[in-house]
Amino acid sequence: TQTELQAILNYTVALAREAGLLILEGSAKIRSSGAADEKKNSVDLVTEYDVAVERLVKNRLSEKYPDFKFIGEESFAAGSRPELTDEPTFCVDPIDGTTNFIHGFPYACISLGLIYLKRPVLGVIYNPFLNQLYSAILGGGAYLEQASLPAIRLPLADPPRPLPSLSQALIGIEWGSDRSLEMVEKKGESFKRLAGDPATGVVKGKMAHSLRSLGSAALNYALVAQGGLDIYWEIGTWPWDICAGVIIAQEAGCFVAGGRDAPLDNDVNERVLWGRKHFVIRKIGDTETEKGVDAQKRL
Ligand code: IPD
Repeated sequence: TQTELQAILNYTVALAREAGLLILEGSAKIRSSGAADEKKNSVDLVTEYDVAVERLVKNRLSEKYPDFKFIGEESFAAGSRPELTDEPTFCVDPIDGTTNFIHGFPYACISLGLIYLKRPVLGVIYNPFLNQLYSAILGGGAYLEQASLPAIRLPLADPPRPLPSLSQALIGIEWGSDRSLEMVEKKGESFKRLAGDPATGVVKGKMAHSLRSLGSAALNYALVAQGGLDIYWEIGTWPWDICAGVIIAQEAGCFVAGGRDAPLDNDVNERVLWGRKHFVIRKIGDTETEKGVDAQKRL
């Protein structure tokens, strides 16, 4: 129920803030000692802090909610791969934007989601560098709390200004950690279409205002929810990168879609959570949103 979700939200918000302190401390230490390990290749990075933050969060969640299941980026990497069932399941990325965390580029966060009946129903994204906390529960709206200001309902402009044309969109993209020539070429083609290739672009003959690469899938979702980005598109995400973001974006009125064959707006299911391709668009007027959703099929 909403009351149960609200209670879980209160607990997970406090936990995310506590994890945030460890993330800040870790980022400062890593920058002076430089201790990052490579996962798959020289750009897929993990640090002792990813592991420590996940341990903290996992322990706290299992103390408080012993019956809930847990999927986490680092537990997954260490071989724990629970199947997604209808049971309540926390889905956590302890540090989303690990590369930013290592460099001190202030866009890294903890992303903490709850899945129930195979769809995200609660999300908390906390960026301790900017002290910004995004949250949502199913049916309860999405919120942003920053510094000592009161929480503001998302999207920030109410009603959000509809874009007159997708050509005026600011679009989030990511390079991801798979830099094989094949992947970079594929992504490059999609970036070209997003930026405004005259023949195949999202808006024929016109460029988008610009592309941005922030380095955190969760924060890209949060920024579309906020209205700072109009679209976010990526191949290569994992459930823990996007679980919290999906519900925050949806509660802020955004349209979320998986790959070509996995539309998910109100039907976020296992296939989509585990799908690697994601497209989020803020509601920018019915026609433009529709055009955008249509265009995502060509990406
Ligand atoms: C990654 C970041 C990155 C995105 C990748 C994610 P990590 O997560 O969100 O921006 O491009 O798809 O896996 O490794 O920093 O937790």
